[in-house]
Amino acid sequence: MNFQTLLTSLEEGIFTITINRPDKLNALNKTVIEELSQTVDEINNNKAVKCAIITGAGPKAFVAGADITEFLSLNAGGGEALAKKGQEMVFNKIEQSTKPIVAAVNGFALGGGCELAMSCHFRLASENAKFGQPEVNLGLIPGYGGTQRLTQLVGKGKAMELMMTASMIDANEAKQLGLVNHVTTAEELLPKTKALLELIMTKGPNAVGKVIAAVNAYYDKSQDGFDAEAKLFGNCFGTDEMKEGVNAFLEKRKADFLNK
Ligand code: COA
Repeated sequence: MNFQTLLTSLEEGIFTITINRPDKLNALNKTVIEELSQTVDEINNNKAVKCAIITGAGPKAFVAGADITEFLSLNAGGGEALAKKGQEMVFNKIEQSTKPIVAAVNGFALGGGCELAMSCHFRLASENAKFGQPEVNLGLIPGYGGTQRLTQLVGKGKAMELMMTASMIDANEAKQLGLVNHVTTAEELLPKTKALLELIMTKGPNAVGKVIAAVNAYYDKSQDGFDAEAKLFGNCFGTDEMKEGVNAFLEKRKADFLNK
């Protein structure tokens, strides 16, 4: 796939998306949002793609936020439309993807960058990563889901403090707060992320997708999470994948979920 602002590659089922505006610290302008939206469609529609990584180009930034140069021309309606469009085209679509999408945070993850990482199913960070929602510095609040997902991940009090003070936290504090799962050296970030995805790819992909849907149901006010879980659990029964997994256990062999 050819993009203006992204680099992509597909290797052994892992689709890697690299936001590639390093001279602007990979800030999310309109083009990045539109192109990211296309890549999420590719993840969902291309059978060869089993899972994905989102990362940033260069040694300094994952994504340093929405592109601030696009803000001054907007009025209230334009601001709301920008937030809604981004939420629907990218952030909610990533969260709801049934194939795992993981953020490899390699530097600044600020504003929309922190929101992009938080919309992924989980996050790894390099030691030099920095997280924050600094929108109040600009007289703004997060608009790509940050007020909701940061609260989900770190709890109300800490989310309030981070968003009200615009403070940046480092990778280790982000790990302590539950915002990231693992902290690595810069060199180890992609290998460690890939190793986790390789492990996930040995599991039943249908079941992995249903884990994502069931966990997301916890946060979805329109449905009861326990009912959603029971339904998704039921939907696993009778599938070739479930037969393979259960038979492999009973036959004391490793399950082979490929093409099931
Ligand atoms: N939107 C647009 N451009 C951005 C940007 C953003 N969110 N973040 C960084 N850039 C640009 C800078 O304007 C600069 O461009 P220039 O070289 O043409 O002047 C370039 O990226 C490098 O950034 P710079 O500020 O010079 O790097 P730094 O190391 O001094 O500072 C940050 C790094 C991340 C602390 C600083 O860039 C920053 O505060 N960025 C904005 C963060 C933010 O508020 N994000 C939320 C937006 S809602």
